[in-house]
Amino acid sequence: MLEPWKNQLLSPKTAFTSEKDSGNVLYIMADTSKFSILVVGSGGREHALVQMCLKSPLADRVIATPGNGGMASEVDCYKVGVEDIEGIVQLAQDHHIGLVIVGPEVPLSLGLVDALQAVGIPAYGPNAQGAQLESSKVVCKDFFARHNIPTAEYGSFTDVAAALEYLDTHPAPIVIKASGLAAGKGVIMAETQAEAIAAVKDMLEGNAFGASGHEIVIEETLYGEEASIHAIVSGDDFVCLPPSQDHKRAGEGDTGLNTGGMGAYTPTSRVTAEMQAQIEAQVLRPTLDGFKADGIHFCGTLYAGLMLTPKGVRVLEYNVRFGDPETQVLLPMVADDLVPVLLASAKGEALPAKLNIHPGAAIVIVLAAGGYPDSYAKGDTITLPTTTPERSAIVHAGTKRAEDGTITTNGGRVLGVSGQAPSLQAAADLAYGVCDQVHFDGKYLRRDIGHQELNR
Ligand code: AMP
Ligand code: GLY
Repeated sequence: MLEPWKNQLLSPKTAFTSEKDSGNVLYIMADTSKFSILVVGSGGREHALVQMCLKSPLADRVIATPGNGGMASEVDCYKVGVEDIEGIVQLAQDHHIGLVIVGPEVPLSLGLVDALQAVGIPAYGPNAQGAQLESSKVVCKDFFARHNIPTAEYGSFTDVAAALEYLDTHPAPIVIKASGLAAGKGVIMAETQAEAIAAVKDMLEGNAFGASGHEIVIEETLYGEEASIHAIVSGDDFVCLPPSQDHKRAGEGDTGLNTGGMGAYTPTSRVTAEMQAQIEAQVLRPTLDGFKADGIHFCGTLYAGLMLTPKGVRVLEYNVRFGDPETQVLLPMVADDLVPVLLASAKGEALPAKLNIHPGAAIVIVLAAGGYPDSYAKGDTITLPTTTPERSAIVHAGTKRAEDGTITTNGGRVLGVSGQAPSLQAAADLAYGVCDQVHFDGKYLRRDIGHQELNR
């Protein structure tokens, strides 16, 4: 047993330690000490997380890796890539980090949280086993089936002949999904049988999504409106953020190719208090019970992508990290300091029963590089307004900062402009006003973010 920390002289390096106890890691921390936080990732979600941490009275210092142009203007960023698990662990040790917040799914699926836990550093996010829920759609769908979680009817295949036979009895319109990670792009909504057959062949015989497409899910097309529920989970315990809606298609009117997300807003009135209770009882609680039955100790974000169908709520997928760009609207709506909540989850401790949420609405509009999600230019200079109105913010995603402070485009989704206001319409007006003050060659944005809610 470790001695209690009380009465010991704490150096930052020894502020945390860990002890393996029947598979669980126990973290012991001086409860009043501030600590340093490392945010892992380089998108808009991670910039929003950095900004949240900078506001927390618990944060002594905030650093990020690899970061982006916006983060580099606010905190020290390091050049360790998100797939370099050893490098991130070393960075966290070198900087005596007390909490690592992992943004994207790839390092989670590669076992970053396991590796940090092994050296006694609390890390927010699931371990590699929990992350499989997102990194394999087959694992996720089988989990749904095993635990009676409502979802679309499906089959999973590695063999072309078997997949084509399934299509004979389940004809288009049908959805073909690469099982592995594909940055939100591995889903083909086949309207015709020819499209469905081509998608199956492209993934299983061709190399449409590389190894991610060598196993596929074929599932029934669901109709309805989508909504996202983000829950912060700590073992048996969970607490929800407000319901939000993302716009995944590149084009206005929700047309065109799937992207990582072109904009989001919260809350959505489609998820009433009654429906929220139903989602918690029929989706989230069975999921946590399912983890327990399967021997998975899950901590971190559970982000349920839902379809609200006339027959009830169906889960399209689980992600095991915060949504991007949903995070950019969710975090500013939380009135509480989320840092201690994420730390509690990282340590497998109890969570608060509920979070205090600001009234009103929030919206984020993604400013993308022309051509995204297909090929697009990088390196264009970005001009930003010197100030933004109160309750609006510009969050960086694919940007780079030169030593002289110049910011250039460095990704498909370049910036996110957010606004909060008493109504969604006022939030949208505020954010779109700021969007018009941002300039770079090829700037592309959707002008209809929140259209379903605004037209209700
Ligand atoms: P996923 O990566 O599984 O969330 O799929 C990406 C997007 O494709 C979803 O947000 C939906 O817009 C759409 N989608 C996925 N599965 C289905 C389905 N079974 N029926 C209708 N739309 C779907
Ligand atoms: N905005 C969709 C996602 O983060 O998966």
